[in-house]
Amino acid sequence: MCGIVGYIGYRDATAVVLEGLQRLEYRGYDSAGLAVLDSTGTLQIRREAGRLQRLVRLLEQAPARGTVAIGHTRWATHGPPSRRNAHPHASPDGRLVVVQNGIVENFAELRAWLQARGYTFASDTDTEVIVHLIHYYFHGGGLNGGGLDGGGEALETAVRAALSRLQGPSAVAVLSRDHPDRLLAARLGHAGGVVVGWGEEEMYLASDIPALLGCTRRVQFLENRQMAILTRNGASIRTLEGRPVDRPVVQVNWDPAAAEKGEYPHFMLKEIFEQGQSIAATLAQRLDFGSGLVELPSLHLSPERARRLRKVTIVACGTSYYAGLVGRHLLERLARIPTEVDYASEYRYREPLIGPEEMVLAITQSGETVDTLAALEEARARGAFTAAIVNVVGSQADRMCHGAIHMHAGPEIGVASTKAFTASLVDLVLLGLYLGQARQTLAESEQAALVQDLARLPGLVGEVLEEAQASGRYAELARDYGGFANFLYLGRGLQYPVAREGALKLKEISYIHAEGYPAGEMKHGPIALIDGHMPTVALAPRDGVYEKMVSQIEQVKARGGAVLAVVHHQDRQLAARVDRALPIPQAHPLLTPVLSVIPLQLFAYHVAVGRGLDVDRPRNLAKSVTVE
Ligand code: F6R
Repeated sequence: MCGIVGYIGYRDATAVVLEGLQRLEYRGYDSAGLAVLDSTGTLQIRREAGRLQRLVRLLEQAPARGTVAIGHTRWATHGPPSRRNAHPHASPDGRLVVVQNGIVENFAELRAWLQARGYTFASDTDTEVIVHLIHYYFHGGGLNGGGLDGGGEALETAVRAALSRLQGPSAVAVLSRDHPDRLLAARLGHAGGVVVGWGEEEMYLASDIPALLGCTRRVQFLENRQMAILTRNGASIRTLEGRPVDRPVVQVNWDPAAAEKGEYPHFMLKEIFEQGQSIAATLAQRLDFGSGLVELPSLHLSPERARRLRKVTIVACGTSYYAGLVGRHLLERLARIPTEVDYASEYRYREPLIGPEEMVLAITQSGETVDTLAALEEARARGAFTAAIVNVVGSQADRMCHGAIHMHAGPEIGVASTKAFTASLVDLVLLGLYLGQARQTLAESEQAALVQDLARLPGLVGEVLEEAQASGRYAELARDYGGFANFLYLGRGLQYPVAREGALKLKEISYIHAEGYPAGEMKHGPIALIDGHMPTVALAPRDGVYEKMVSQIEQVKARGGAVLAVVHHQDRQLAARVDRALPIPQAHPLLTPVLSVIPLQLFAYHVAVGRGLDVDRPRNLAKSVTVE
């Protein structure tokens, strides 16, 4: 949440920062701002409520130029979205500015402390206490203090002193007119990434890699309690206690074009259509289609240790949690390991019991979701083997776990997760196979059938997408059903988590109320909701619970509810019984969730577009949830 961008170099810093902010807008978009140090040494601050475009317009009317700048795109925590609450926030003398991602949990106390020392506040934000605290320490004791000696060191010392007073996770960037040759950034706790980008005589700062892809692919990641001091010629990294640390500069292998929309009107649509490709990339080099053997070297789990595993607990949030619910079926079926799934935000607070030989597996696209990181930390502290199925290589989850399985989905920019969901399902199948092979729980024929269909999977995904495009089915469906206020999504077994994911997609981008429910639970309450105003989306591929799903569909129809059903395209009989059939090709049942979710993604997308909504920037949401 909130995106931070910084630049120090020789180019027009405003343009560089604006471009970075544009690429980071998925992290927050209720207001934006930047501060640039102009040629007279003055900090020019421009801030605007609303989308980034409004800041761009403001800068056209009141340009600000220089070669050092920091910028911010906000997702409000303290104080409503408005110009006065937009970052950067400045010290009383205007000589120092700060942007922040995170939460100062003790901000009320710090605010009172600063007010008692004469500081006044121009915003409702928690961030403003940070800039005043830095000012306080920089001036050796506040508004009447004399200032610290020691050039750039003084600023670092003041930032360190200020940050040591903060409780809660924060990522900050600091720019001071007293030290025009440097930019400071620091990370406290799980406040989302701080990435330092290396150029030639220019350096960058960003919350996330996509912001930098147009400029550099050589990056360093800050760990908790580390500070980076950027000059035009490089960066040095220290702990908040001042000890120098060596952080590797790594090469990101994402293609810059992958972070562009290309010919698509929205990132979400582009990412839905990339799923065949991303699944092929997820499978590549891990699965030998000939022998069926799976290799997961970055998991760092030997076959011997895999054999000894007694339990897996999957922790995740949102869409990744629903992938985890599918994962439970996969791991239990393929590897016969008891598997639990928990919301990361609940797991961390329930004092989990972890016995020996247990794996806690996080699923996270961003690798920066604060609750997921905290759950991993908790699990690690209690002695579990921790692993992450993660998309962003080098993210915090990737770095903090004993092992990882990467999604290889490429950057996911649309706020509604799509290709990361299917890539994580495929990773879970690979993990199930790997553990099943190590534990010898897989019959040869079962393995062969699964591997055969894994090889076909990218093509099958392509078939769903081609059919969707050729038939124009989903735009038409959205036109006919987009006006309803409530939807029920039903599934059983492996399709139940898909129902929940489908309902989440509809809720988050079209703001229509939707519930994902296990179909078998209908009669225990929710069936009371069914009438002609409540369409049901039913997941009914021909699998082990098909007949049961069909009778549940009949029960909905008998009560006057419309039914849209995801069905195998050979299933003409059921297609004829429901109001609309959403066809998918037949595949191994364990792989069917990868296919059955696609019609639900497309339906949600077209409903949102039909309602004139901003699909890539749904209200109140942000891509990486880095605050609790
Ligand atoms: C929904 C969505 C969210 C994320 C959740 C976890 O479309 O994107 O529900 O799935 O915030 O994010 P990651 O996977 O980055 O941990």
